[in-house]
Amino acid sequence: MKTGIYILLLSEICFEFIQADIKPEFPKEEKESNFLERSNISISKEWYHHKNISKPFEHQGFEDLTLHNFTEKTANFGFNLYRKIAMTHDNNVIISPLSVSALMSVYMMAAKGETHRQIVKGLNLHDMKDRVDHQHLPALFKQLIGNITTNEEFLLVQGILSFIQKDFKLKESFLNLSKQYFDMDFLKVDFENLTQAKLFINQNINKMTKGKIPGFFEELDRHNKLVLVDYIFFKGKWVYPFNSKFTEIETFHINKYRSVQVPMMFKSDKINSTFDENLRCTVIKIPYKGNAHMLIVIPEKEGDYISIEDHLTTELVESWLGNMKTRKVDISFPKFKLEQKYKMKKLLQGLGIKRLFTCSADLSHLTDHEYVAVSQVVQNAVIEVDEEGTEAAAATASEITAFTVPPVIKVDRPFLFMIFEETFKTLLFIGRVIDPTEM
Ligand SMILES: *[C@@H]1O[C@H](CO)[C@@H](O)[C@H](O)[C@H]1NC(C)=O
Ligand SMILES: *[C@@H]1O[C@H](CO)[C@@H](O)[C@H](O)[C@H]1NC(C)=O
Ligand SMILES: *[C@@H]1O[C@H](CO)[C@@H](O)[C@H](O)[C@H]1NC(C)=O
Ligand SMILES: *[C@@H]1O[C@H](CO)[C@@H](O)[C@H](O)[C@H]1NC(C)=O
Ligand SMILES: *[C@@H]1O[C@H](CO)[C@@H](O)[C@H](O)[C@H]1NC(C)=O
Ligand SMILES: *[C@@H]1O[C@H](CO)[C@@H](O)[C@H](O)[C@H]1NC(C)=O
Ligand SMILES: *[C@@H]1O[C@H](CO)[C@@H](O)[C@H](O)[C@H]1NC(C)=O
Repeated sequence: MKTGIYILLLSEICFEFIQADIKPEFPKEEKESNFLERSNISISKEWYHHKNISKPFEHQGFEDLTLHNFTEKTANFGFNLYRKIAMTHDNNVIISPLSVSALMSVYMMAAKGETHRQIVKGLNLHDMKDRVDHQHLPALFKQLIGNITTNEEFLLVQGILSFIQKDFKLKESFLNLSKQYFDMDFLKVDFENLTQAKLFINQNINKMTKGKIPGFFEELDRHNKLVLVDYIFFKGKWVYPFNSKFTEIETFHINKYRSVQVPMMFKSDKINSTFDENLRCTVIKIPYKGNAHMLIVIPEKEGDYISIEDHLTTELVESWLGNMKTRKVDISFPKFKLEQKYKMKKLLQGLGIKRLFTCSADLSHLTDHEYVAVSQVVQNAVIEVDEEGTEAAAATASEITAFTVPPVIKVDRPFLFMIFEETFKTLLFIGRVIDPTEM
């Protein structure tokens, strides 16, 4: 299969007993609705009825509105998370906010009280939560993922693998809900036998990601009780591919002092683009087959990406999209492949999700065990961008005309990119390329 781009990414979360001498204080004051204890589909319907709230699935109009609100807020979470990562270094970045928020939603179902509140707030969903109960957000996730992964023209796969210590007990209600909303099955492993556990987990990840991430877990802790792995995988084809005959090695300016040689794709084609006068950047939109596109943001001056990163919001992206004009341009765009692995704990803590990682985490919807906390969240992402192979080459060559000299957009300096699914404006991936020759 010829592909313009594929991305894939995993997150891992481990639970471990915290061997604390001091008994942690569990906040007792919350009056959280006990949704997990009374959780099954009919009860939940009754709940919605009882509260006189339309269930998100029932009315098309309401559903769309809610989902749009939801993805808008989730995108802003993505921008916040991206900023946290971008601030820590000057290198390439690639993350999937959708994957992180899907995984955190599982913890949202597991957590109570302040632990729960912090996750909701960190995911930027607190405005939505007031309106409905705890199951509303997982339900929205389910609906969103179900919708956007059902696309015949691109491949988008998302799922969560879960591995549990063989004698560790989870609440039945949690098992039911995680199955209902995230289609999770819990595979039993023995973390005491680390070699075997690692092999088993890696084999399963390898199977689900079709070999894209073979040895995900290099280190594994024998105190683990539960490991969750979220994977997301995207393969899309450009609607208007590049012709690989025109790909040439050219100079990419990392900054004033450093440059590298990269394979630069080229086409002369109609492109939707805009120039942001305030942030001094060009934004172009390259559509994928199916309902998705890549936005590329190129600062006027190399190194100016930081101020753009500071301003990234859903509203800004909307305004770019609203101002786009179709123009014929000569565009040069580097081929690149990035692979990044991030430990997310500190970043999520930076977004206010703190208690989940401490011994005062309240995960009592998940288990009756005490002293359970999340030890780490790791995300591994891969993106590869190319012309989409030679077959497509013939399709573009015709566009070149002799008499007009089109403006030139040359992506030969650090840029940001985002991949959106269009039905619900879902931010699937966001990243930046500082040096295309580095992974
Ligand atoms: C689940 O729903 C069924 C009806 O579908 C009901 O009879 C049963 O009591 C419910 N279970 C719980 C635990 O509430
Ligand atoms: C439910 O809401 C509708 C409209 O918001 C209102 O007319 C109706 O009286 C409410 N029903 C109950 C039982 O509160
Ligand atoms: C949901 O989106 C609509 C239209 O985009 C907006 O008017 C409304 O205020 C949003 N609601 C919330 C709760 O953000
Ligand atoms: C996704 O949602 C859109 C908008 O509500 C709808 O038109 C489309 O049929 C849905 N697709 C799937 C596969 O559910
Ligand atoms: C979980 O699901 C099973 C099978 O659907 C059901 O028998 C059981 O009552 C459910 N338990 C809870 C606590 O919801
Ligand atoms: C770990 O599992 C392997 C494979 O099942 C087994 O051969 C080995 O004896 C086990 N080690 C321990 C310490 O239980
Ligand atoms: C430009 O955007 C318009 C409106 O969204 C769309 O119909 C058109 O196909 C786009 N053209 C290209 C070349 O991407």
